[in-house]
Amino acid sequence: MAFASIIAFGYRYSNVLNMASLKEQNKCHDVTHRVISLFFRQYDLPGQIPSAIGDLTYLKYLTFRKLHNLTGPIPESLTKLKYLDFLRLDWLNLTGPIPSFLGQLKNLTYLNLSFNKLTGGIPDSLSTIPGLKSIYLDRNQLTGKIPASLANLKLNGLYLILSHNNLSGELPPAFAGVDFEKLDLSRNKLQGDASLVFGKNKSTYYIDISRNQFEFNLSKVEFNESLTTLDMNHNKIYGSIPKAMTGLELQSLNVSYNRLCGEIPVGGRLQSFDYSVYFHNRCLCGAPLDSCK
Ligand SMILES: *[C@@H]1O[C@H](CO)[C@@H](O)[C@H](O)[C@H]1NC(C)=O
Ligand SMILES: *[C@@H]1O[C@H](CO)[C@@H](O)[C@H](O)[C@H]1NC(C)=O
Ligand SMILES: *[C@@H]1O[C@H](CO)[C@@H](O)[C@H](O)[C@H]1NC(C)=O
Ligand SMILES: *[C@@H]1O[C@H](CO)[C@@H](O)[C@H](O)[C@H]1NC(C)=O
Ligand SMILES: *[C@@H]1O[C@H](CO)[C@@H](O)[C@H](O)[C@H]1NC(C)=O
Ligand SMILES: *[C@@H]1O[C@H](CO)[C@@H](O)[C@H](O)[C@H]1NC(C)=O
Ligand SMILES: *[C@@H]1O[C@H](CO)[C@@H](O)[C@H](O)[C@H]1NC(C)=O
Ligand SMILES: *[C@@H]1O[C@H](CO)[C@@H](O)[C@H](O)[C@H]1NC(C)=O
Ligand SMILES: *[C@@H]1O[C@H](CO)[C@@H](O)[C@H](O)[C@H]1NC(C)=O
Repeated sequence: MAFASIIAFGYRYSNVLNMASLKEQNKCHDVTHRVISLFFRQYDLPGQIPSAIGDLTYLKYLTFRKLHNLTGPIPESLTKLKYLDFLRLDWLNLTGPIPSFLGQLKNLTYLNLSFNKLTGGIPDSLSTIPGLKSIYLDRNQLTGKIPASLANLKLNGLYLILSHNNLSGELPPAFAGVDFEKLDLSRNKLQGDASLVFGKNKSTYYIDISRNQFEFNLSKVEFNESLTTLDMNHNKIYGSIPKAMTGLELQSLNVSYNRLCGEIPVGGRLQSFDYSVYFHNRCLCGAPLDSCK
């Protein structure tokens, strides 16, 4: 099947979603006139996402963003969009759960539901989408545990962004085997051992686990040199800063407000950060903090 054009692009200049007209175009046998992309942004589009969207059979890219008057649930008719690759419904006022039926969108590679008012848990069904690589569910009101099934998304370079929710419990042990590219779990109520997200053989460049209740021994953590951003502030992390961290090309680091002790190893980029990156720990010392006695 060839998809030759993105004819609905112009609809971004409209504040009326003319489904009747779109459906007419969709019937067209000429592939060059099929609607494959819809993009709505920053217009007054009130009500709910119209369920008639599901009739745009060939849709590949669907974006509704920054439409504060768009509310209600994610419509089940989306499951009819078998070719959907990219689904971005962010900065809306969507409510209700992240529906389990999204797992039927087998061609999805990108899912962004950030900045909504979605509640409930993360459905297991997401892990049945074979090519899903980018998952942005941050800034909602999600609760419950992170499902272990997400570890089945073992593609190299998974983006998993779950920050600013109310997720709780421990991380699934199976995350030890996932090579995230970017992982942001910050500002949840997660607890237990987060050391399993690190590892010598992972190519992760970005890890933010700040503002949770994680508790593990940092001394035992092994790092891969690909890591450039590491934020762990406000947890219950203990032990000391491993010497191996001097070997990282860190652009950003924050281990403040934990229970770390001992001397900050000298070398690499560790002294290029200011004291606020290290302060409020149990007995961490050495530059840029006060010298160890
Ligand atoms: C939302 O609707 C209200 C009331 O109809 C309107 O005043 C406002 O401009 C709309 N907001 C946006 C972002 O379109
Ligand atoms: C949508 O969200 C905005 C910003 O969060 C808020 O001001 C507005 O009242 C909300 N509208 C509805 C209909 O919930
Ligand atoms: C969608 O997914 C199906 C099944 O995984 C696959 O056979 C098909 O080629 C995909 N279609 C597109 C347009 O990517
Ligand atoms: C997903 O949406 C959020 C909120 O608008 C945005 O900050 C983020 O960059 C988006 N992610 C991607 C990969 O586009
Ligand atoms: C998390 O839950 C608390 C109550 O337990 C609530 O006050 C808070 O608004 C919730 N935060 C989010 C982001 O849902
Ligand atoms: C890293 O190595 C461990 C043990 O050798 C293995 O179990 C794990 O699957 C590997 N992880 C990745 C992301 O390759
Ligand atoms: C870092 O990770 C990459 C990608 O997984 C791997 O090729 C490399 O060998 C790792 N480095 C070390 C020191 O294990
Ligand atoms: C943390 O691990 C290191 C290295 O294995 C060990 O020496 C130390 O006693 C541990 N710290 C705590 C508080 O368990
Ligand atoms: C590190 O995190 C703490 C706590 O959130 C914050 O006060 C401090 O400014 C941060 N430091 C940097 C350099 O971002």
